[in-house]
Amino acid sequence: MNADALASAYELLHSSVMTCGGEPVGTVAAVATYGAEAENYHDCFVRDFVPSALVFLADGQPAIVRNFLRTVLKLRSQHQRIHGHQIEPAVLPASFRVTTDETGRERIRADFGDHAIGRVAPVDAMMWWVILLNIYCRATGDKALAAEPEVQRALRGVLELTLREGFEVFPTLLVPDGSFMIDRRMGVYGHPLEIQSLFYGMLVSAIELLRDTPESHTLLALAEKRTNMLRNYVQLFYWLDMERLNEIHRYRTEEFGSGSINMLNIYPESIPDWVVDWLPPRSGYLVGNLGPGRMDFRFFALGNLLAIIFGITSPREGQGIMRLYQDRWDDLIGNMPAKLVYPAVAGKEWVFMTGSDPKNVPWSYHNGGNWPVLIWAFVAAAMKTGRGDLAQLALDGADRALPQAKWPEYYDGRAGNLIGRRAHLNQVWSAAGYILGHKLAEDETLLDLFCAVDQREAAG
Ligand code: GLC
Repeated sequence: MNADALASAYELLHSSVMTCGGEPVGTVAAVATYGAEAENYHDCFVRDFVPSALVFLADGQPAIVRNFLRTVLKLRSQHQRIHGHQIEPAVLPASFRVTTDETGRERIRADFGDHAIGRVAPVDAMMWWVILLNIYCRATGDKALAAEPEVQRALRGVLELTLREGFEVFPTLLVPDGSFMIDRRMGVYGHPLEIQSLFYGMLVSAIELLRDTPESHTLLALAEKRTNMLRNYVQLFYWLDMERLNEIHRYRTEEFGSGSINMLNIYPESIPDWVVDWLPPRSGYLVGNLGPGRMDFRFFALGNLLAIIFGITSPREGQGIMRLYQDRWDDLIGNMPAKLVYPAVAGKEWVFMTGSDPKNVPWSYHNGGNWPVLIWAFVAAAMKTGRGDLAQLALDGADRALPQAKWPEYYDGRAGNLIGRRAHLNQVWSAAGYILGHKLAEDETLLDLFCAVDQREAAG
């Protein structure tokens, strides 16, 4: 471990704390360097705050996390009508900021996507909020917050919204493009893996937090049923290894009726070339997205890592994903852990998929960039599957490079060896993710914050 690097990360984390009325309520996305940040990087993003929150909890400083959870909840009242339709009251903001008016009074302004680039819907925020609330309860033993009527109402609201009957025939959750960490057009509409992993983590957390009252009884039963269906479905249909690739390669198509094997009618012709040579034996992963006639074969790191952390994958699958990391280290970890999506899309595919987004050019940003924040999730998944060796290797890479480079948001290049062309420096979740990665590697019991103890998987 590099003590100077940790000290530098802590300095950034502490300088990023955002206060309201003198109380800490969150951390900003990036601390100003040369005034070059995007306008909303002074906001506290719900998803960005998660690694910060976990560090504060592990350090025995729960107040900021409790304030954050309360603040985000109160912000629901700021919902506005957008183009004539009301946003669901359960939807939580992507981010918020503290502003001061002429009289010096502080106000918090929420962004429900209405201020964001592309007006993307932050579906993951409500999931993270529930998951973080449960982690807060587990870490502090403070059950009072979750028992508050307003919190119980909010939990019911999130469940009602996500479990509501729609037009769907799958147990997975249908979302628009850019509704999670990848908050730009990247062909991630439909049933992206990261949302399904978060959905599962949220359901398990909500079941633990919601009191069984006449008002919540039916919802709880529904949530339990959905949790099981979701886990089975993801395991069955998202999982890809050599055996399964062989099956898909020889799939019968256009089958009718309930007995069909290729239920989603995936055409073998849609298997991309790269995957055939790339997928090593005895390893596998969960594909990025799934829908009728559509399998997105790209590897999405956070969805896979969270699936391990929340216990969606079986122990064998967890081992398979970590073996993929081991065998394809240069592609998936490279110089700076870790690749967000592999591989990048290029050429016409990039034009159609991203709408010619210059920030998402091949091997940059969301399109194959490397994101230091992913270190914490990688270390957590590695520790959970008994691969502390891989966790250590990833941390070693970060130790050397991150503080010197001033905690960049992301790296470019196939190997992640270039600081992202438009990356912000002093990006807070890069530092918080790094601290958390070290903490998880040193103290495995922190993993219990994410899942029940009996779910720990031994090395296979
Ligand atoms: C970018 C990322 C998003 C993150 C935000 C603030 O928009 O894609 O996931 O929350 O920056 O860091």
